[in-house]
Amino acid sequence: MSDKPEEKLRRREERYDRERRVRIKVGEDLETMEGVFDGRTLMTVMHMLNTGRLSELQGAMKSGKESRIYHGIDPKGNELAVKIYLTSSSIFRQGRLKYIRGDPRFKDIPHDTRSLIDQWALKEFKNLQLAKEAGLAVPTPIYVEKNVLVMEFIGKNGVPAPHLREVPLQAASSWYDKIVEMLKDLYDKAKLVHGDLSEYNILVPDGYPMLIDFAQAVTIEHPEAREFLKRDIENLNNYFKGLNVRTRSFERMFKVEE
Ligand SMILES: Nc1ncnc2c1ncn2[C@@H]1O[C@H](COP(=O)(O)OP(=O)(O)OP(=O)(O)O)[C@@H](O)[C@H]1O
Ligand SMILES: [Mg+2]
Repeated sequence: MSDKPEEKLRRREERYDRERRVRIKVGEDLETMEGVFDGRTLMTVMHMLNTGRLSELQGAMKSGKESRIYHGIDPKGNELAVKIYLTSSSIFRQGRLKYIRGDPRFKDIPHDTRSLIDQWALKEFKNLQLAKEAGLAVPTPIYVEKNVLVMEFIGKNGVPAPHLREVPLQAASSWYDKIVEMLKDLYDKAKLVHGDLSEYNILVPDGYPMLIDFAQAVTIEHPEAREFLKRDIENLNNYFKGLNVRTRSFERMFKVEE
């Protein structure tokens, strides 16, 4: 790096500009964010803003049972989805343990709920990575820090893509076939079972299905992987039966003995 005075000055100006921008963004949002986040989450979000992982975080788009999804912008102006796991619920621990226990990637299960939630966010990140690497249509995972996961935004101009449920389907049976194909790829190539498949966890960005919400997904070695897979297929089948599609059983789909 050159040490010429003008170069130094330029760098300093750039840094000043960047810091000011971040401060302005945080300043504007701080008031509302403080009401929503606990201190630790706020620190994590601020750290992401300060290190240029994020340049803006806008209002909550969706509130799930245990997370909130925010619309964010990266320094290049790309849209992001920021999933923040809420750390308050103790039911969380009860409900989630069975998806972490038995997953060989997570041998040490933390005792405190906060660390468990951080693991939960990391688990979703890793699952998305595996699915993406296997060529599945899922949001690209970008970054995870503590209980905050940053991923590709599915939608446009801050408006998330509709859920499968909201989309009137032409030729519903070909949509069914396509999603079954995805489940099989998820199993055979990514070696994962989704575990919470429903018409709400499938988004339809541009006329094709995309799977989301991977925190509970388990590797196929998990002792209950088969049960989770059966349940996913049952949910999918129930939805498509409602659209008069002839569905297939788990046994036929995965060619196992009945
Ligand atoms: N990457 C994304 N891009 C755009 N929208 C998203 C993205 N991820 C999630 N969403 C939106 O946020 C909603 C909740 O996300 P997700 O299902 O991952 O969270 P959750 O806490 O498990 O929610 P729930 O308990 O309702 O299933 C989704 O249904 C979808 O509308
Ligand atoms: Mg969901």
